[in-house]
Amino acid sequence: MPNTILIGAQWGDEGKGKIIDVLTERVDWVVRAQGGNNAGHTVEIGEERFVLHLVPSGILHEGKRCVIGNGVVLDPVALVEEIRGVTERGFGVEGRLFISDRAHAVFPYHRMLDAQGEARRAKGDQIGTTLRGIGPAYGDKASRFGLRMCDLIDPDFPGLLRSRVEDKNRVLAALGAPVVDYDEVLAATQSALDVLRPLICDTVPLLHGAVSRGESMLFEGAQGIMLDIDFGTYPYVTSSNAGSGGASTGSGVPPHRMSRVVGVVKAYTTRVGEGPFPTELLDADGEEIRRVGREFGATTGRPRRCGWFDAVVARHAVMTCGVDEWALTKMDVLDGFKTLKICTAYELDGRRIDAVPANIREMSRCRPVYEEMPGWLSTTRGATRREDLPEAARQYMARLEEITGVPVGIVSLGPRREDTLLPEGRP
Ligand code: IMP
Repeated sequence: MPNTILIGAQWGDEGKGKIIDVLTERVDWVVRAQGGNNAGHTVEIGEERFVLHLVPSGILHEGKRCVIGNGVVLDPVALVEEIRGVTERGFGVEGRLFISDRAHAVFPYHRMLDAQGEARRAKGDQIGTTLRGIGPAYGDKASRFGLRMCDLIDPDFPGLLRSRVEDKNRVLAALGAPVVDYDEVLAATQSALDVLRPLICDTVPLLHGAVSRGESMLFEGAQGIMLDIDFGTYPYVTSSNAGSGGASTGSGVPPHRMSRVVGVVKAYTTRVGEGPFPTELLDADGEEIRRVGREFGATTGRPRRCGWFDAVVARHAVMTCGVDEWALTKMDVLDGFKTLKICTAYELDGRRIDAVPANIREMSRCRPVYEEMPGWLSTTRGATRREDLPEAARQYMARLEEITGVPVGIVSLGPRREDTLLPEGRP
């Protein structure tokens, strides 16, 4: 398989974990390039269910090598817990997991500042973050105050950490919030480093060597384009580039070494946290999608907001990420709907628009323009080829292809590896 970037083409939670898992069979390396443990990638193997936040899902495949790239912000203590979890279930990380020495660390003060930031916003203005400290950690990166993995393993680390803790404690105290205990943070980080130190390295030559040898890579996107700091519904976004551009800046692999972009989209749309969502359903249909699709956050357990497929959003992903093919997920969740709606454009203040507006106040006023299609009212489970799907399901997919200008490659009909239609048949 050519070097492939996999991105979420909506507001995250598109089912990327499972698609990554399926595609991993065909690559040598799986690389995470942005985000942190705000992400939650769910993979089901047989009867076992894994939720991974920082460790690339490739770890669940023997012999595949995984990289946490420079663009990721990582909480060392949370990462060690996750490594223990996968190791206990039989998946070793030695010689298989490599952590960039340029990746920034998330500390407890980042999480506390995340919570403070949310609390200080007026009611209704909260972002609804995952409270994992992601925004403050990327903030420190941009303000050149962050600490990277190379600093954590440096003999000067205690002093570097002390200056950060003193500074952040001044801010926390001014906000009337509890402060952090330097000794505790240092001890917890050092004990996490006992596990992480052997995995931290310069991943640039490592990946460059792999590219030179013709080994193939899958860049595992976290979140989705609508949560991208540049192209999402700012400020209701995460703090990294969740689009295809982030794969290169977050790994050090140049853009022209990437040859394919797979966009993962649900057959409908969901969002967690606050912010505009034009096709949101606040009625029984929305409830039904949430119930059947088990739409509750993998990281925070929050119920997800649910709505119809939004082709304006999908086209935004196509334009900003260069999507070559869709992986269409959760088609089976629509099995019981008599009528399905697809949003083809928005109506904004009496005008019809077909692109996502930058202005958040305008986006909040956008009303979906729908076209309706008949549902298939039968099960899609068990289909082994696209031709086996009910006629109305094939028509729905064909319409999504037409309206977005991008073909559907993979179709996912359930959480297990087996419930997947690859263009050439079952995996
Ligand atoms: P943060 O990334 O924790 O700062 O949260 C910012 C926004 O992104 C919030 O609306 C979160 O709910 C959302 N978000 C962050 N990570 C994910 C994810 O992996 N899936 C879905 N939404 C996410």
